[in-house]
Amino acid sequence: MSKLELVRMAKQNIAHAKAGTIVQAPDVFRVPASAYIDNERHDLEKKRIFKRMPLKLAATAELPRNGDYKAMEAVGMPVLLTRGKDGKVRAFINSCTHRGTYVAVEGCGDTSLFTCPYHGWTFNREGELVGIASREDFGDVDPSTLGLKPLPVLEKAGLIWGVLDPNSTIDIERFLSGYDALLASFGFENWHLFSKRTLKGPNWKIAYDGYPDFYHLPVLHRETFGADISNRALYFAWGPHQRVTSPSVAVPGPDARNPVRLDQKPEADWDTETLLSGVWTIFPHISIASFYGGGRGVMISQLFPGETAQESTTTQLYLLQHEPRPEERDEAERQFELLEYVVKVEDYDTGFRQQKALLAGGLDSVIFGRNEGGGQLFHQWVQKILETDDGDLNSLFPPVSQAAE
Ligand code: FES
Repeated sequence: MSKLELVRMAKQNIAHAKAGTIVQAPDVFRVPASAYIDNERHDLEKKRIFKRMPLKLAATAELPRNGDYKAMEAVGMPVLLTRGKDGKVRAFINSCTHRGTYVAVEGCGDTSLFTCPYHGWTFNREGELVGIASREDFGDVDPSTLGLKPLPVLEKAGLIWGVLDPNSTIDIERFLSGYDALLASFGFENWHLFSKRTLKGPNWKIAYDGYPDFYHLPVLHRETFGADISNRALYFAWGPHQRVTSPSVAVPGPDARNPVRLDQKPEADWDTETLLSGVWTIFPHISIASFYGGGRGVMISQLFPGETAQESTTTQLYLLQHEPRPEERDEAERQFELLEYVVKVEDYDTGFRQQKALLAGGLDSVIFGRNEGGGQLFHQWVQKILETDDGDLNSLFPPVSQAAE
């Protein structure tokens, strides 16, 4: 089914490329400048989007084996992801139930027990409190009620989603709107984590606007990789999640000088790898882009809003389909360094200047053109979720049975 869907999109790319067309949004769309710079609005977005919606918190490749864990902060919430001896991923608030400090410091590792660094209480990978230091002195408490607080979590398509509200009733699978079936075509559960970096950026939406935006590629990135790239894009949406492709008959492949000409191959020979080209975004803060450098790779960018409206943090994960051979490592390093440079120096520095101009009051609103339908849809979803009550969130997404059709 997923392959059929990928073929359907590839055919649309080819048809638009041959006709010299794209799908335009009905009209241009304006976003108020205040939506990017107002701190009250920023706090509301953190509360109603990031604290309520499922977030892709990790890739399976970050904690692939039983006993692996990842400790992270997500919008100020300390989160601990563990993979138990049953192979299942669990998510917890990373806060000791004695007096609250983190039981695991930020990062990835493997352990069967988490011993709190403050007084030494111990939790297992399932979050149960299994040891109270000086139990006989401590007094009467029931360890079975003092496990780490669990968070909703779902692992699918080699990616791990969590919700930062322990009482959330949102259905993560429903939120994915069938998009996970397409993402599963990558087979990320077997990919290799090559490298990870963190960058500081401007407002999270200023930063995120650039990811589904092909309009800027041949201009802003002309010195690095964009000189010969078209500025046209096609957007395919599943709920708030979008794939962006170039309406082209030639798709990038392992040989940079010889893109794959799908229009010159019989459809039966179209391989899934080629059909997955482009940028895959996951609402509200993830972009997955394919590259070849040290083998087939993707850069997964994960954005989080910062303390104020003017700050964000991006974690870049470089995943490779196979662990690179020693002679491939330099090429993989170079590719990842280039991607870091492009995002930091070209995209985010431009974003910081955009932010300064908006703060200076130069514009009441910014414009997304009819050719920027992906950006339009993203901002419409942001607004829709801000305006939706907790009890109605699930109804924004198709029931799982329909999404699978
Ligand atoms: Fe964790 Fe005291 S805060 S043992």
